[in-house]
Order: sequence, then structure tokens, then C-alpha cells
Amino acid sequence: MRKTILITGGAGFIGSHVVRLFVNKYPDYLIVNLDALTYAGNLGNLIDIADAPNYTFVKGDITDERFTADLFRSFSIDGVIHLAAESHVDRSISDPLAFIRTNVFGTANLLNAAKEAWKGDMAEKRFYHISTDEVYGALAFDGTFFTENRKYDPHSPYSASKASSDHFVRAYHDTFGLPVVISNCSNNYGANQFPEKLIPLAIHNIKNNISIPIYGKGENVRDWLWVNDHARAIDVIFHSGNNGETYNIGGNNEWTNIDLIRALCRIMDKKLSREIGTSAQLITFVKDRAGHDLRYAIDSSKLQRELGWEPSLQFEEGLEKTVDWYLDNQNWLENIINGDYQKYYEKQYKER
Ligand code: NAD
Ligand code: TYD
Repeated sequence: MRKTILITGGAGFIGSHVVRLFVNKYPDYLIVNLDALTYAGNLGNLIDIADAPNYTFVKGDITDERFTADLFRSFSIDGVIHLAAESHVDRSISDPLAFIRTNVFGTANLLNAAKEAWKGDMAEKRFYHISTDEVYGALAFDGTFFTENRKYDPHSPYSASKASSDHFVRAYHDTFGLPVVISNCSNNYGANQFPEKLIPLAIHNIKNNISIPIYGKGENVRDWLWVNDHARAIDVIFHSGNNGETYNIGGNNEWTNIDLIRALCRIMDKKLSREIGTSAQLITFVKDRAGHDLRYAIDSSKLQRELGWEPSLQFEEGLEKTVDWYLDNQNWLENIINGDYQKYYEKQYKER
């Protein structure tokens, strides 16, 4: 193996797509997937590559100081792609401290483990931190976009914890010379997303004739990017981004929540052979989320110009592909709803 890459949070939604891309594309790398398997971690996302010779899974917590230091020593890690996080805004409102523990302390702990392991020889090393556009706060309906120079203005405990972790990453670069790179991405959608997030939640509810909760009036805007395009961007930035730099990643694809859900309902009517308009009757406006950011929109021109990345899919095509995936993989959703997905680790790994 030429390089050992530690991917944290690889059993989660985006992490599993990044792990698969790297395992398949780089047979010379050993990919170490470190994940605590919280409620959001699902090794069932990675069944297809679980036995690949260049892949290994380690169950562990990024907040555990001794464990992470040992991991860096035992695997001689060359690069880190750090995705492990508490990621759901609504959960950050009900349990903010869990977000501070994992997103802030966990990230600082990983940075520290990398600094100690790499001290004296940081050449050829890289610590890549995956962040979110939510650190920039909210935009008005004024046609402006988040650029990399935008002042941080987080509003939820989730975005505040991610903003804090970004600051620690930059501080380790400026203070200790750690070779870091950061990207801030817009909302992802696609296969294997935990069904607490808007799109898989709505697909599940429509399929099962359950009401679709829309916060407030549904007028909040998100910029949606297909998760596989995010994984491709992570590959490009990990290999070609410049140390100390930040890259924004986005789909240039703004939708109000209500328009998005109406479009999804039309696709679901078609796929389920329902009369057009049937699924939309499930839309239910509910109490707004506290501190709900009005609009996110990313300017990804730096990444497009400097590193040549661009999204590969139009949103309507991506949404239809996504619906097809959830309908073709109903076991995946059922295993989450009934809790069976958390037994996969016990079955496949514990006795190895
Ligand atoms: P996710 O919630 O689906 O997955 C997170 C993973 O991290 C899970 O597998 C979980 O088990 C693991 N994890 C949580 N706490 C851990 C800990 N203490 N130690 C080790 N592992 C732990 O999240 P996601 O949507 O895939 O997001 C991945 C990253 O991308 C996050 O850092 C998130 O902030 C960022 N991001 C997400 C989006 C999005 O739309 N989902 C957009 C931009 C950025
Ligand atoms: P979400 O998928 O939670 O992502 P984020 O909060 O990180 O943007 O939510 C996307 C948008 O959908 C956001 O504006 C909140 C809204 N939303 C609903 O209206 N109803 C829901 O049940 C959920 C989960 C989200």
C-alpha cells in the first residue's frame, strides 16, 4: 500500500460514498474507516466493499484521546478525511452538548493526534476537514451567494459547532503548520441518507401514506447537491487542493422546501402509479424550526475554476435516481425503522 488514509464517519451518509469511491478508485491506498456507529452509522451502507483488500473498519470514538493517538501509531496514517459528526440540526436543538462533544472536541482531538503523529515530518501529509455551508448563516432573497470569504454567522448549535471546528482546523494550520484543507458544502441528497433528513423522510412518508411535515410555510431555500458529486469534489480537493485553503462546494441548485416536496410528490405519484396530486395531499405545514435559516446558496466558482470540478447531474434527474434507489432498497429503510441495521456490526465484525 502506498498510502494509508483515515476516513472518519465512513459509515454515515456522505462518508460511505467517499469510502466506496476511494476503495474502488485507489487500490494502492489502505482506507481505514473509523466510525463510532452512532444512530447515524450504518455498516449496511458498505456491504459491497466490506471485504475489499484495501479496506478496513475500526469502531471507535473521535473524542477518545488515547484511542485516536494509538490509531495514528498503529496505522501510520498519511491523510485524514474527517466527516464524523453529529449532523442533524433538529437534534442539535434538543441535545446541543452532543454536538459540542463530537464536532468541536472530537475534531480538536483528531487534529491533535495528527499533529503529534506527524511532528517533524508533515511533508506528504494532509488533514481534510469536511464542513458545511451552514457556518455562514442565512442569506436573504437578494441573489447573493456564500463565497469562501463570507464572515461566519452560525445560528443553530449544529452550525455553531461546525464553525468552531473549522476555526480549530485553521488554528492548527497557522500555529503548528498542520497541512489542512477545508470544504464547506451545501445540502446533499442521494442514496443512504438517514431518514430524519427532509428528502428520505418525505420518500418514506409518501410511500407509507404518512403526512409530510413542512416547517413553517416551506419557503426556506436550500441548495441541493447529489452526494456522489460531493464525493467527487472531496476526491479532487483531497488530492489537488492547496494547504490552508477553503473550497465551497454547491449544486447551484436552489429550491424552496415546498417546491422541492411538490416535485418529489409528482415523481412518487408516477413511480407508485398514483393519480398525479395524490401524494401532495400528505403535505402538512407544522411549527417552524427554531432559528430556521431562510436561505443557503453556495458560490462554488473557486473550486470549478481552480480544480476543474463541476456537478454532473441536473437536480430533476438526481431526484428521480434517488427515489428509484429508496424504492429499490426498501429493506435498507425498513432495517433503520425497526433498528436491525445496528446489529450488522455484531454479525459481521465483532467476532473477526
Ligand atoms: P451522518 O450523520 O449521516 O454520518 C455521521 C457519521 O459519523 C455516522 O456514521 C456516525 O456514526 C459517525 N460519528 C458520529 N459521532 C462520532 C464520533 N464521536 N466518533 C466517530 N464517529 C462518529 O452525516 P453526513 O450527512 O454524512 O455528514 C457527514 C459530514 O458532512 C458531517 O461532518 C457534516 O457536517 C458534513 N456535511 C453534511 C451535509 C449534508 O447535507 N448531509 C452537507 C455539508 C456538510
Ligand atoms: P434538513 O434535511 O434537516 O437539512 P438542513 O437543516 O441541514 O438544511 O432540512 C432541509 C430543509 O427542510 C430545512 O429548511 C428544514 C426543512 N425540513 C422540513 O420542512 N421538514 C422536515 O421534516 C425536515 C427534516 C426538514
